[in-house]
Amino acid sequence: MAQIGTDRGKAKEFLEAGNVVGIPTETVYGLAGNALNTDAVLRIFQVKNRPSFDPLIVHTDSISKLSRFVTDIPALAQKLAEAFWPGPLTLLLPKQSLIPDLVTSGLSTVAVRIPNHPLTLDLLRSLDFPLAAPSANPFGYISPTTAQHVADQLGDQVPYILDGGPAGVGIESTIIGFEENIPTVFRLGGMALDQIEAVIGSVSVRTHSTSNPQAPGMLSSHYAPRKPLILLAPGTSPQPGERVGALAFREPFGGIQARNQRVLSSTGDLNEAAKNLFAYLRELDTLAIDVIYAEPLPNAGLGWAMNDRLRRASVPATTATPFQ
Ligand code: TXA
Ligand code: MG
Repeated sequence: MAQIGTDRGKAKEFLEAGNVVGIPTETVYGLAGNALNTDAVLRIFQVKNRPSFDPLIVHTDSISKLSRFVTDIPALAQKLAEAFWPGPLTLLLPKQSLIPDLVTSGLSTVAVRIPNHPLTLDLLRSLDFPLAAPSANPFGYISPTTAQHVADQLGDQVPYILDGGPAGVGIESTIIGFEENIPTVFRLGGMALDQIEAVIGSVSVRTHSTSNPQAPGMLSSHYAPRKPLILLAPGTSPQPGERVGALAFREPFGGIQARNQRVLSSTGDLNEAAKNLFAYLRELDTLAIDVIYAEPLPNAGLGWAMNDRLRRASVPATTATPFQ
């Protein structure tokens, strides 16, 4: 069983030995391994039960190290890196051959980010290699926002989980690429679009690719709880019932027991809601209920990314079957 602790030195030892370790970031917890060691990278795919066509994000601690991993940093990417790193933003950049093809699933770009968590930044500084780290959940399930979430699901396969407390942002990083000099968002996430656009002007958003997606995290049936989740139309309420659960934005719904409901932010704060989203979905998933109804969030700030996750986690009301 994994040990949970705050000993960065221990995490470093495991990583240097080619092991995988759970690490905190401001978005969600990652399942980290030496990005330059293909055995460690293979182990990540194996532990997550993740298909090898779904590439990983490479984490580092300073912009100055970037040129080791990428061949070019377009001006717009540089601007974003300077404005938002460390932070919940991942840049897709042309990769150096040093980065194994396994990490990028054979793509010519590599996803890179500097996460904003003091413990993980210290860890990264102490290592002489970058960390490949997907979210530390089994493929297709909700991402973990606490060390305990990681232990609950991957604890028997990971020797150590570095505990950095609950994730401060709570939703995965925003992913942006720069092919043909057109900034394109492939995954909505913890860095809101309007903040990005305030720095580089308007960006295009392409998060709905179907076959051979640029970012397989954009596939539907991703981020799903095991119980069927039904995303309500704006302004509508769930069918009341004994075995019905609800994820509400500001206020609980009538006709559903209080213990079967979670309220994301009673003050209507979208950042607070994002921080609670995945933990609450996990809690609802463990209750004695048959279905989870989720209220859509306002389309502003992190509300876009949250609605995106809820949509992908949801099933059409008529064909409600559990996910993998
Ligand atoms: O916030 C985050 O990004 C977290 C923390 C741990 O950093 N990581 C994370 O990783 O969410 P993961 O593996 O769960 O999601 C990474 C997404 C995947 O959907 C993958 O397809 C996409 O990034 N991706 C990675 N490399 C890519 C590339 N070269 N081109 C397009 N998409 C890429
Ligand atoms: Mg993930």
